[in-house]
Amino acid sequence: MPESSDFLETYLREIGVQTPISLVVSGEEMSGSEQLALADQAETAGAAFPHAEPIPAAMPAAPVSSSGSESAPFKTLHELSREASDCSLCGLADTRSNVVFGVGNPQADLVFIGEAPGRDEDIRGEPFVGRAGQLLDRMLHAIDLDRKSVYIMNTIKCRPPNNRDPKPDEVQACNLWFEQQLNLLQPKMICLLGRVAAQTVLETDEPLGALRGRWHDYRGIPVWVTYHPAYLLRSPQQKRKSWQDLVTLLNRLN
Ligand code: URA
Repeated sequence: MPESSDFLETYLREIGVQTPISLVVSGEEMSGSEQLALADQAETAGAAFPHAEPIPAAMPAAPVSSSGSESAPFKTLHELSREASDCSLCGLADTRSNVVFGVGNPQADLVFIGEAPGRDEDIRGEPFVGRAGQLLDRMLHAIDLDRKSVYIMNTIKCRPPNNRDPKPDEVQACNLWFEQQLNLLQPKMICLLGRVAAQTVLETDEPLGALRGRWHDYRGIPVWVTYHPAYLLRSPQQKRKSWQDLVTLLNRLN
């Protein structure tokens, strides 16, 4: 995983920071055409997206017994998703349009987990498709990943009204799906996006600042915590730290 200043500049441009950081640091500014020339040079040199190693081949998914009994047939992720699609275990079933199960490669090594579906996700039935999701796509693209090479899901599967934080009873009800989903995915690594996802999955009240920058564990799976893309949209000055987070994550993954 390259850590050159070229890579940082490219990452920052990809996620919407227009002025390459080295020029900010050196106090210089570049014209638009100079920035384009820099991008062209990088692309010609094949350095526009210095690539992470491709994600290694899949681990076999762990079987999940549908009824808990030894002899019951094993479920696939698709079957689990179909079962969850008419869930009514909590009150969110009354207000949702769609259960937002998850998207991506069922055999991905890396799983990103956000908080809960928002309005766009509720309408489309897919996680992270609104503005925050578009930024997540750009962040993934900048490190040579996309939503087909990773898996993306949320701590709960239905949109809380007015995008309020999920309530404990909703999280608890949805844990039925969450646990089975992760058991089937068997990722090598989990990245939690934002405070709510981090506090929910790690079952802690610690603030995001205390949870970032160190490894955690979810049932034997290494867990990394970074900013939620919606927060990065509101606080673009933190995008540089989000890049550092992604580099650390990929270094360990590779
Ligand atoms: N925010 C989240 O946490 N999850 C989504 O799916 C969309 C926005």
